[in-house]
Amino acid sequence: MIELGVNIDHVATLREARKGAVPSVLEAATVCEQAGAHQITVHLRQDRRHIQDRDIYGLAESLQVRMNFEMAAVDEMIAIAHKIKPATVCLVPENREEITTEGGLDVAGQQTWLTEVVRGMHAQGVHVSMFIDPEVAQIDASLATGADYVELHTGAYANAQGADVAAELKRLEVAAAHIADTPLAFHAGHGLTVQNLAPIVALPGLREVNIGHDIIARAVFIGLDNAVKEILDALVPV
Ligand code: PXP
Repeated sequence: MIELGVNIDHVATLREARKGAVPSVLEAATVCEQAGAHQITVHLRQDRRHIQDRDIYGLAESLQVRMNFEMAAVDEMIAIAHKIKPATVCLVPENREEITTEGGLDVAGQQTWLTEVVRGMHAQGVHVSMFIDPEVAQIDASLATGADYVELHTGAYANAQGADVAAELKRLEVAAAHIADTPLAFHAGHGLTVQNLAPIVALPGLREVNIGHDIIARAVFIGLDNAVKEILDALVPV
């Protein structure tokens, strides 16, 4: 069974448009849980453009399912993660100019530092996922850091057009086969939608997807609970 983490950052994006209290991130998490989500994913960015510190602390107290805390591997975020002890941290690259997380983390380029980060998280009982591009070198580097999971960045696949779709899918397949030869668990995320999910669901060994923007966008028209259920239905391999 492939599990679903719902990324609720964009509920906070809408709230921050007016800097008010609604829509509530905590209420959104409850609706997702009740619709069957296995995990709630949140990214506390250094620029605090959507999720705020109070959201993280509130979710840490109220969540009934696992929290997957996406964060840059910087001291400020490490301290917060050590305090709240989410089930998982997902280490992501962060660039203040970007609209969303544009590429995978260069684990190979900062292996020593990330090994130290993983060791610190494990000492707190927190599992670690590396958000990486589908590249063998990044998978091997993730394994070397002691990480528990890799989340393959599916953004290039999601944005591809024409013949590039098959090429990007092939990259993901090759990466999935490589992950299968390691003890790392295989997750995927970014840009996934009801329409493009089927080939991802078919990747061997996939255990979890994290989906945000499409679910929140669909929720505008069909409600958040239906949007979550629609994705859960699409996660059942045909
Ligand atoms: N996984 C990771 C590591 C991410 O950074 C994001 C975006 O914040 C997602 C999944 C979800 O991507 P999307 O909002 O495009 O579904």
